[in-house]
Order: sequence, then structure tokens, then C-alpha cells
Amino acid sequence: MHLISSVFASALALCGVATGASLQQVTNFGANTSGTKILSYSGTCWDVSSKEALTHNGDADSNSIVNMVSYTLGKYNGDKSRVFATGTSSGAMMTNVLAAAYPDVFAAGIAYAGVPATCFYTGTINGWNSTCSQGQLNLSQEYWANAALNAYPGYTGPRPRMRIHHGTADTTLYAQNYYETIKQWTGVFGYSTTPSTTYPNTPRSPYTRYVFGPNVEGILGQGVSHNIDIFGDADMEWFGFTISLTDGSGTTTTMAGPTSTRTTTTSVTATATGGLGGAHYAQCGGIGWTGVVTCVSPYTCRKLNDYYYQCL
Ligand SMILES: *[C@@H]1O[C@H](CO)[C@@H](O)[C@H](O)[C@H]1NC(C)=O
Ligand SMILES: *[C@@H]1O[C@H](CO)[C@@H](O)[C@H](O)[C@H]1NC(C)=O
Ligand SMILES: *[C@@H]1O[C@H](CO)[C@@H](O)[C@H](O)[C@H]1NC(C)=O
Repeated sequence: MHLISSVFASALALCGVATGASLQQVTNFGANTSGTKILSYSGTCWDVSSKEALTHNGDADSNSIVNMVSYTLGKYNGDKSRVFATGTSSGAMMTNVLAAAYPDVFAAGIAYAGVPATCFYTGTINGWNSTCSQGQLNLSQEYWANAALNAYPGYTGPRPRMRIHHGTADTTLYAQNYYETIKQWTGVFGYSTTPSTTYPNTPRSPYTRYVFGPNVEGILGQGVSHNIDIFGDADMEWFGFTISLTDGSGTTTTMAGPTSTRTTTTSVTATATGGLGGAHYAQCGGIGWTGVVTCVSPYTCRKLNDYYYQCL
């Protein structure tokens, strides 16, 4: 696949790192079997504290990112069903804000060491909410879910799948923010805050992967600080690139990511997906497809044409 089929709107800014406001291509981010282009916009801290930033079409930073997504999709003829957000620190806070305020734009998000959407609210632009950063908020699942839902009142369409990474020894954005963010997205999807499956040492020690449902996962690093590890290969799996775009060229790729260990030969085999995959004959990929891209055992996802992949 050499067309630019995907646009990756990435909020990779680390707070305080001023790199100039420009759209840059990122290379060497995880396995790249699909020829995915990743475009990243970095600036200083994102505004995630004003009412405008936390509101759909509110004319603040979140709105600017979405405008850049539209521009980029047009310029590179991108696939609007494959727009994703990820980032660290301020970028992770923004990832949660984008997922809440623009569920119509983003298909999935991955937040590394952030806070839940609206947690950083101060009512000012680029404010710093220390009650939030220090992890002093311990609110209900319902509170956080409503905070996300109220960023785009009346919206009833699909919402991004979210994976939340954090370190337990984070003293910039305390680890309580991990639990509050898990409450937010499990609440939005109607899941329990108790994980249904736990994978120790995943993607590797000292991280543990917690699955709350098909659309929400947490990866918590024991003793890990704010300087958290980024798992690019696992991110590409979460976004569905390394699975759905395998074209049966015969190359063998074995990847140990948190989603599962997958072996690709002439088609894709997904193992241990915990019921995540499609049933026999279900669609599992193709242009415009936003559903699951794996199949339950023993079926494999096979490309029938560019528009239709099926579990066979
Ligand atoms: C993936 O491969 C394509 C085609 O070779 C390249 O243009 C793109 O920059 C690569 N992306 C990453 C993230 O490395
Ligand atoms: C910090 O955020 C919380 C909610 O996330 C809010 O209750 C509190 O008033 C905010 N603090 C400031 C100083 O605005
Ligand atoms: C948060 O609140 C819940 C119930 O309200 C309580 O069980 C839990 O221990 C609290 N967590 C922290 C870290 O204070």
C-alpha cells in the first residue's frame, strides 16, 4: 500500500518544548508494514484548560488541530476513517480532549501520562490546574463520563477506542490521573472499572496491560516516572495499521505487542485477542472500515479486495 491511506494527527508535544508550530512527518515510529504516514504537530503546552478548548467547535487549540486534520486529509488525500491522536504529557491531555470533543474525527487515541478530559479546567487559556496534576481528584465514573460526553452535547455516533498509559511514580501528573482517565472512558463505553483481563509484563516489565473492554485499555508502569516509555509497535497495532493492511505478500512478521502476539504469513493470524475479533464471515477491514480488524480463532482476516476483508 503505497498510497497515503492514513493520516495520523498526533499531539506529541511535551509541555514547554517549543519547536515552532509546524506539521512534520515522523519516521521510524513502530512497525510500518502499511506505509503509513505520520504527521505530527508540536508546539508549546496545549490549551486544555479553557472552556473553548473543551468544547466541540470551540475555536481553541483542539479546534485548530481538527482544522489541520481536515487540511491534511485534503492535501494528502487521506482516509478520514483513519485519523488518530496520541501524545505524551500535554499531548496526552490533548489526546483525551480531542477524543471527548471530536469523537466524530478520531477513530482511536493513546494517551501517555496525561489527565482526563476536562480535569485541567481552569477557565483560562493554558492554565495549570494543580488539583488535577497532583492527583487530588477522585471522582465518580459517572462524573468523568459526563465530562467527556458534555464536550460534544447531542453527539450519538461512534467514539474513539482509548488506550491509557501511565507510570505509578509520576510526580508531574500523578498516577491518580490514570485511574480517573480509566473511569472516564470505561464510563463512556459502559464498562466496569475492574479489568476483565490483566496481562503482566506487557508490553514488557515493569508495565501491566489491563483490558476493560474492546475499546478501553490501560497500561500502567510500576515505578515509572513522567518520562514514560513509548511503545510504537503496540500503538500501530492499537490503531489497526499492522493488522488490517497486511496484504498477503508472504512476508512473515511476528510482533509482540500488548494486543496479542500475532504471526503474519500469507494472511493475518490473531491469537489471544480475548474475544476481540470478528466471527466467521465478519468483515475485518477494507477502506472506510472502522470496526475490529482481527478475527476469533481459528479464522484469519483475509483481503478480498481493497474495500472488503473477511474473517475466513
Ligand atoms: C512508512 O513508510 C512510508 C513508505 O515507505 C514512508 O513514507 C513513511 O514515512 C513511513 N512512516 C513511518 C512512520 O516511518
Ligand atoms: C481544577 O479542576 C477541577 C475539575 O477538574 C475543578 O473542580 C477545579 O475547580 C479546578 N481548579 C481551578 C483552580 O480552576
Ligand atoms: C477514591 O474513592 C473511592 C470511593 O469513593 C475509594 O474507594 C478509593 O479508595 C479512593 N481512592 C483514593 C486514591 O483515594
